[in-house]
Amino acid sequence: MLSEKIQRALNDQLNAEFYSWYLYLAMAAYFDHLNFNGFAKWMKIQAQEEMSHAMKIYDYLNVVNAKVTLNNIGSAAKDWVSPLEVFQNVYDHEVEVTNSINKLVDLAISEKDHATNNFLIWFVNEQVEEIAIADQILGRLKFIGESHNGLFFLDHELGKRA
Ligand code: FEO
Repeated sequence: MLSEKIQRALNDQLNAEFYSWYLYLAMAAYFDHLNFNGFAKWMKIQAQEEMSHAMKIYDYLNVVNAKVTLNNIGSAAKDWVSPLEVFQNVYDHEVEVTNSINKLVDLAISEKDHATNNFLIWFVNEQVEEIAIADQILGRLKFIGESHNGLFFLDHELGKRA
């Protein structure tokens, strides 16, 4: 049985993953509106991944007979002004998520909750990958600057994500 503290922290993380889903969906809508369909496709797939992260926690809470609490996930509406600003937001957001996963791991260790600690390892590894990808795309956007050709090319590249 999970402690109250771990249960609350996992439910908070569940909520944060749903917020990530909503945030990336809002970013997809931003790109769709600009007819950057490749960027939009990349964001929709990213949003799906976030939903799967949320459901991993949902399933874990159920397996260990803990309570799932679905709170308000809040608005993800933002006035981004460029693809560069969007991906800076992605990078900053993933750093925040990484910090919150690390805090969860610290809590599981301090509570000697080995099962939850083991469960969270997948998220620790996933965050390394997510930060690396966000950093790579952000770096490309910084390199491209105001180049329309560069943006067109990157849109095409990101649209290949399956
Ligand atoms: Fe669920 Fe992007 O971390």
